Amino acid sequence: MKVIITGGAGYIGSHVCLAVHRSGHTPVIIDNFSNSSPACVRRLGELIDDVVECHNVDVCDAGMLNDVFAAVLPGAVIHCAGLKAVGESFADPLHYYEKNILGAVNVLRAMDVVGTSRVIFSSSATVYGDPEYLPYDEQHRLAPENPYGRTKLFIEHLIHDWDKAGKNRSAVLLRYFNPIGAHPSGLIGEDPNDFPNNLMPYILDVAAGKRPDLKVFGDDYQTPDGTGVRDYIHVEDLADGHVAALGYAVRHTGVGTFNLGTGRGYSVLEVIAAFERASNRQIPYEVVARRAGDIAEFFADASKASETFGWSPNRDLDRMCADAWNWRVKNPNGYSE
Ligand code: WQD
Repeated sequence: MKVIITGGAGYIGSHVCLAVHRSGHTPVIIDNFSNSSPACVRRLGELIDDVVECHNVDVCDAGMLNDVFAAVLPGAVIHCAGLKAVGESFADPLHYYEKNILGAVNVLRAMDVVGTSRVIFSSSATVYGDPEYLPYDEQHRLAPENPYGRTKLFIEHLIHDWDKAGKNRSAVLLRYFNPIGAHPSGLIGEDPNDFPNNLMPYILDVAAGKRPDLKVFGDDYQTPDGTGVRDYIHVEDLADGHVAALGYAVRHTGVGTFNLGTGRGYSVLEVIAAFERASNRQIPYEVVARRAGDIAEFFADASKASETFGWSPNRDLDRMCADAWNWRVKNPNGYSE
């Protein structure tokens, strides 16, 4: 069946496209290229030795979105399009509420018009907020502490209400932890438009000589080495989780919610050490003040996804770092060829 992937030219979406193709379905991309590149779509075509259908449409443009849905008649939708920078969401919350929530409403409406009843939603572990306990399981209290996380939680609620309002609808909410790495070909990867927001792009800049050192945001947390601990997951494992979720959505109705993490947390210093092993590059760093809003430690209880749809991440931290470095070495300027 045809599967529309909104944001399908982005970091996560492009890897999901490949996984959807690997599973025998036909990915169709909708992307406005606000934080992605048409070059990525061309490279996806190279990787699957075919042309990937792509529509340059903003999910906030309901008219154009409905036209694409009417032309494609998708069997399912994987909704990845949205703004995702935590810091930026504090600076411009209305932009985040408008783009993320309106975009989701438009996608669900477009589905209803053409009778598509299955949606997979790219949610986030940020919906949990300050941990009451760890690892986070899917029953953990939901208390996001930033506008970005609140848009994700609002969209989860919105999808629950959409499901209840219709018959035979199915939705899977995937709560991502910290995706890093890249497809082993080195043809697709993370290419942040402006300043990176996350740890791995900064490490890559240091390894590539674009930055003199990594700023480590605090080493006085209650963690084994004092630096922040996160559940890093290879983006290829994350993409495979979407295909498993798609199969679940085909076989079930109602809403299923799943963590996509590895169940193992790594500190900043552990990531630096793994990257140095994988790249044979030194990553000098300077410990600076904590970043406002950071949580000391979080990682996933990913057993529900494993037990429910047989998905288990199988790429370790060294592989994540090696694939991230491979992408960077082959594409020092990202997609700007
Ligand atoms: C990881 C660790 C930092 C940069 C992310 C995304 C957010 C959401 C949740 C998807 C932390 C430390 C980082 C640096 C550092 N993703 N760090 N120096 O904070 O978990 O949030 O996951 O929904 O969009 O931001 O990830 O990569 O920003 O930070 O020391 O230059 O690395 O303090 O401990 P985070 P991150």
